Amino acid sequence: MIPTITGEADLIVSDSLNHASIIDGMRLSKAPRVVYPHADLGALREALAAARRDGRPDGGGAHRLILVVTDGVFSMDGDIAPLPGIVAAAEEVGAAVMVDDAHASGVLGAAGRGTVDHFDLHGRVAIQVGTLSKAVGVLGGYVAGSQDLHDLLVQRARPFLFSTSAPPAVAAACLEAIHVLEEEPALHERLWANTRLFKAGLARLGFDIGVSETPITPVMMGDSALAGRFSDRLFDEGVFAQPIVFPTVALDKARIRTIVTAAHTEAHIDRALAIFDRIGHELGLIAG
Ligand SMILES: Cc1ncc(COP(=O)(O)O)c(C=O)c1O
Repeated sequence: MIPTITGEADLIVSDSLNHASIIDGMRLSKAPRVVYPHADLGALREALAAARRDGRPDGGGAHRLILVVTDGVFSMDGDIAPLPGIVAAAEEVGAAVMVDDAHASGVLGAAGRGTVDHFDLHGRVAIQVGTLSKAVGVLGGYVAGSQDLHDLLVQRARPFLFSTSAPPAVAAACLEAIHVLEEEPALHERLWANTRLFKAGLARLGFDIGVSETPITPVMMGDSALAGRFSDRLFDEGVFAQPIVFPTVALDKARIRTIVTAAHTEAHIDRALAIFDRIGHELGLIAG
């Protein structure tokens, strides 16, 4: 998406905690870029005002397109992008917004439609992309945008043109998963009930669970070696939760990343919490 629609005459404005795939997309583009501190709307506004005032860094006049790119749900912290503020800031300077809803698709909004629906911003976000590999549980991704955008991508997007397409079985599995999302709202409700239960349990036990607002719930460890040991001990006891360490997150922000699903039962969650409690004490992360 990003290299297909941007070039030297444009500007990409990106959140500092955007996913690696967005960073790679920017590297593949010839467009200059500005990175604003995570979810900082004041800094975003300043970056957009400076872009409008100063124009292209090569002296070529005004930018053709200013594209503001953000994750919808941030993959390592589980917080939701302040999309209403981002959209308002972009609209003030005529910029377009692209949201990567990998972790919001199937999770936020009616039947998991994502952050645009969650915030009721229909028609104000030019591009919504997402994976089909997370809540949808299959493989691949989607782009939602205008017919013109669709036509441009079909003609020009290099991976679309030069890589093998998804096989029919994968496409059928994705379609079926979307039907499940539309037709079985109880699963969606269960995901959120499980999320609330697990988060409340971890907080009650005394763990630092960061700023998450979604099923992605980090359990902050700080030290990378501790995160690795914690994850190994969880696995010994029957809980699979991966450590996330530098360079995926800052050096002192190592964590265990947990994600509950709609398939978990209350008994699973209680058992996981009991194991977190035991290992938290064993490794000195929680006291009492
Ligand atoms: C925000 C975001 N975008 C894109 C991706 C890439 O997804 P996939 O592995 O399905 O290509 C991920 C995966 O972690 C992600 O978190």
